[in-house]
Amino acid sequence: MIKGKRIILGISGGIAAYKMTNVASMLYKMGADVHVLMTKNATQFITPKTFEVLTKNKVYIDTFDETPDDPVNVPHITLGQSADCFLIAPATANIIGKLAHGIADDMVTTTVLPARCPILICPSMNGYMLDNPVVQENIEILRKRGYKIIDSEFGNLACGYEGKGKLPKEELLVEHILNAVEYEHDLVGKKIMISAGPTEEPLDPVRIITNHSSGKMGFALARVAAKRGAEVTLVSGPVNLETPLNVNRVNITTAEDMFKEITERSADMDIIIMAAAVADYTPETVADNKIKKKDGEMSIPLKRTKDILKYLGENKKPGQFLCGFSMETENLLENSTAKLEKKNADMICANNLKVPGAGYKVDTNIITIIKKGSAVELPLMSKDEAAYEILSEILSDL
Ligand code: CTP
Repeated sequence: MIKGKRIILGISGGIAAYKMTNVASMLYKMGADVHVLMTKNATQFITPKTFEVLTKNKVYIDTFDETPDDPVNVPHITLGQSADCFLIAPATANIIGKLAHGIADDMVTTTVLPARCPILICPSMNGYMLDNPVVQENIEILRKRGYKIIDSEFGNLACGYEGKGKLPKEELLVEHILNAVEYEHDLVGKKIMISAGPTEEPLDPVRIITNHSSGKMGFALARVAAKRGAEVTLVSGPVNLETPLNVNRVNITTAEDMFKEITERSADMDIIIMAAAVADYTPETVADNKIKKKDGEMSIPLKRTKDILKYLGENKKPGQFLCGFSMETENLLENSTAKLEKKNADMICANNLKVPGAGYKVDTNIITIIKKGSAVELPLMSKDEAAYEILSEILSDL
């Protein structure tokens, strides 16, 4: 979705300028129209030619540089106005100060002024410089003006110190850009809680009862919701997945933990999506020590867990949207429609575990969206695409 989007990379004079070659290259390979603007100091660290080869676009340094095939064109205006996203990284104390106070004396600072797209600033410098109140105040001015500040990281700095001020990994910078341009920000102002993954019910200190849920669908929902501007809380069981950017993650283990973490936060939410595979039963007792084997059969007494979705349905606040998931191996429509009613949900996303391309471990899904009086089957798609469709469906009902 970044294909054809105009991304401007403003590079100022920090040693991390060289890392921006990777950012430019990654974006170019994704099909973005990448334009690099450099301050004179940035050219001390890396040559403009490198970026021109990587982006196939002219690199501007001076505001009076002409466009090769159109000398009348005013690049700082045309580029600024047509940009879909503007990332300034590394942003030195000097450029942050200039931006905060409207000083436009080079190509980077001049092009920011006509830009109306998301502007991302990544401060990158020695930790003591970064901590200086004047730099912090300038960063605050930019933050209040709506610029997105990407925090620097802790690590070994070029000046020999260890501290904060390090430019984050290139992949993360690209992810921030994707977040800014990939989708329309149509969920801004919405608070969404999503549950994901399995729960683990302990039997003794070494054994658990769990299921095959990978958490991929719930994480896709959280990722896409955050990219569309929602404030996302992700309550996740034990999974091997990275927390999506701009998502507040709460880790849980058991169904009881999940009940507690979700119900504590539910009153505050506009939308709740239960994508987790919550255990329906848990052992009646948890042994303090490992259960030793004996001759003959063995059975484990189980008790019901609390049904979180049902509880949420019974305690729904006005205007709140409740979406459940339903994984079936037979009678998909009938069973899932029954869940919609029984749990007082507004929507159920149903899938059949036995259909190839749907289910736990795979990156794709085939979902049927069930609401009161309607059932629409979506085609096979990636979990991110399915997440997009599910969120759009919810949004259309709010
Ligand atoms: N769910 C829940 N709390 C539970 C069990 C399930 O909130 N203790 C939620 C799931 O997250 C999902 C929905 O309920 O959104 C459907 O869960 P599922 O287990 O498939 O349905 P059940 O109603 O438990 O029916 P069955 O197990 O008989 O299929």
